Amino acid sequence: MTALYEAVGVSKSYGSVAALSNVDFHVDAGEVVGLVGDNGAGKSTLVKILSGAHKPDGGGRLVLDGEDRSWDSPHDALESGIETLYQDSGLAPHLTVSANVFLGREEFKPGLLGKLGFLAEKSMAAKSAAELDRVGIAVPSAGRAVSQLSGGQRQAVAIGRAVAWARKVIILDEPTNHLGARQSQEVLGVIRQAKRKGLGVILVSHTLPHIFEVTDRCVVLRLGEKVADAPTSEFTPDLLVKTLTGITTMPGGGG
Ligand SMILES: Nc1ncnc2c1ncn2[C@@H]1O[C@H](COP(=O)(O)OP(=O)(O)OP(=O)(O)O)[C@@H](O)[C@H]1O
Ligand SMILES: [Mg+2]
Repeated sequence: MTALYEAVGVSKSYGSVAALSNVDFHVDAGEVVGLVGDNGAGKSTLVKILSGAHKPDGGGRLVLDGEDRSWDSPHDALESGIETLYQDSGLAPHLTVSANVFLGREEFKPGLLGKLGFLAEKSMAAKSAAELDRVGIAVPSAGRAVSQLSGGQRQAVAIGRAVAWARKVIILDEPTNHLGARQSQEVLGVIRQAKRKGLGVILVSHTLPHIFEVTDRCVVLRLGEKVADAPTSEFTPDLLVKTLTGITTMPGGGG
C-alpha cells in the first residue's frame, strides 16, 4: 500500500549540527502517528521538512500520494493539503480570531465591474465561528483580537484553523503545550475527528499519556536518528521512555 505522505532518507544539518540523519517516515490516511523524542532529537526539524519550511539536504525525498514532491515554501505544501501547526504557532496577535482563521485565504466581496472588493468580514466571521465550533474548539468570539485571548485559547484557534483547512495531512507540533486538562482533551478530540475524516495526523508531543491516548503508531527519534517505528500498542510508557533515552532498542529503527 502506498503511504499517504512519506519522507524517504531525509537529512538536515544546521551548520555542523546534524539535526536529522537519513530518516524514513510515513503516515497513512486515517492514521495518527506520534513523533516522539527528547529535546533536540530532531522532531521539529522533521516537521519543518514535511511542512515545506525547510528543504531536506541532498538525497532526501518527499512523496505525497505516491508522487515525488518538493516544496519551495510552506505555502506549496498547504496548497497540496498539508496543514501544519508549528511549535510556536503563527497567529497574528493584532488580528481577530476570524481574520486569523482566514489568514492568507481571505474572502472578498465582489467589487464594481467584477474587481475584488472589500474583505467579506461578516461571512468570514460566521464561517470561522462555525468551523471552530464544528471541530469542537471553544473560543470566546470570532470577532475578538487574538492578543486578548489566553495562551490556551490562542492555541485552540491555531489548532482549529489547521484542522479546518487540512485536506490530506495535519501536523501538530506540541499542540497541547500551555493547555489545561480540559482544553487538552478538546485537542485530542479534534485529533480523533481528523482521523475519522481520513486525514493523516502527525502528533509531536512530550506528554506521553496523550501519545498513548490517540496515536496508532509511534516513531521515536534520538539525536537525529529514527530509533523505533512500531504500533503504539507494542509500547508501554516505560518502554517508550527507555527507547527515547537510548536505554533500550525497539523494532523499526535504523536506516
Ligand atoms: N535553526 C537552527 N539552527 C541551528 N541548530 C538548530 C536549529 N534548529 C534546531 N537546531 C538543532 O537541531 C537539533 C534538533 O532540533 P529540533 O528543534 O528539531 O528538536 P526537537 O526534537 O523538536 O526538540 P524539542 O523537543 O526541544 O522541541 C538540535 O540539536 C537543535 O539545537
Ligand atoms: Mg521541537
